[in-house]
Amino acid sequence: MPKLPAVPIPPRFLPQPPPPGTQRGRPRTPLEKGAEAGKSAVDWIDERTSLSGGVRWALFRKVPKGTNWFYTLGSATMIAFLNQAVTGVFLAMYYRPDAGGGAYESVRYITNDVFLGQFVRGMHKWGSSVMVILVFLHMGRTFFFGAYKYPRELNWVIGVVLLILTMTMSFTGYLLPFDQRSYWATIVGVNINGTGPLLGPYLSDFLRGGPEFSATTLSRFYSIHMLLVPGAIAAMIGAHLYLVAKLGTTAPPWLRAKPEPELVEEQL
Ligand code: HEM
Repeated sequence: MPKLPAVPIPPRFLPQPPPPGTQRGRPRTPLEKGAEAGKSAVDWIDERTSLSGGVRWALFRKVPKGTNWFYTLGSATMIAFLNQAVTGVFLAMYYRPDAGGGAYESVRYITNDVFLGQFVRGMHKWGSSVMVILVFLHMGRTFFFGAYKYPRELNWVIGVVLLILTMTMSFTGYLLPFDQRSYWATIVGVNINGTGPLLGPYLSDFLRGGPEFSATTLSRFYSIHMLLVPGAIAAMIGAHLYLVAKLGTTAPPWLRAKPEPELVEEQL
C-alpha cells in the first residue's frame, strides 16, 4: 500500500515539549501543570502591560549593610494600616452614623449580635492604638538614624503628613460609637482645636459642621474617617514608598562609609 503523507496537524495540537526542569518522557504531574499555567498567566499579563520591569525596580534593591529589625517598623505601620482598612470595611457594613441613637445601637449590635463582630471591632479598636504606636516608633527610627537628611527630606515631610493623617483617623474614629465617653471627649478635642492660632476657630467650626455640636458632626466625622483620610493615607504611602524605592534606605549611622582622605576638602 502506498505510504500516505502525514496529516498536517497544526503545531499547537502536537505534544508540547517538556518545560525546562522536568523529566523528559514522563507525563507532567498536576503540580507541574498548575505551575506552568500560573507562569503562562503571569507572562500573558506581562506581555501586555510590561509590569515586571516596575515590580523588579521596586522589589529587588540593594540594602545597606547593617540593616536591622528597626527597619521593619515602616512596613509594620503599613500592615497596621491595612488591618484598619480591612476590618473597617466590615464594620462599615453594619455601622450607621445616626446621632439619634442609631449609631450607638449599631455598634452594640456589631459587638453583641454580629458573627465575629466583637472580634473585628476589637481588631479595629486595638489596631488603631498599634498603628499610632508604630508610626511614632518608625518616626523615631528615621530620626535617630538621620534618615531625614539629604536626599530624603521630602520623604520626612510626607511622613509628617502621614503622622497628622494617622492622628486624624484616631480623632474622628473615637466619636463613632457615640457613647458618653466618645461624645464628651470629642467636644474637648474640638475645643482644643479651636484654640489653635489663626485657623483654630475655623477648624473647630469645620469639624462641628457649624457653631454647635449636632447630628451633622457625626456624619462629617464618619465621612472624614472612612473616605477622605484613608484615601489620603493610601496615596501618601504610595508616594512614601516610591521615594524609599528610588532613594534606598539609609545605612545605620555607626556604619556610614568613611570618605576617601584625598576627597576631603583641605582645611586652611
Ligand atoms: C502611615 C504611616 C507610615 C508608613 C506606612 C510608613 C512606611 C514606611 C516604609 C515601609 C519605609 C521603608 C522601611 C523603613 O525604613 O522602615 C519608610 C521609610 C521612611 N519613612 Fe515612613 N512611614 C510612615 C510614617 C512616617 C513618618 C511619620 C515619618 C517621619 C515623620 C516617616 C519618615 C520616613 C523616612 C525619612 C523614611 C526613609 C528611611 C530611610 O531611608 O532609612 N515615615 N516608611
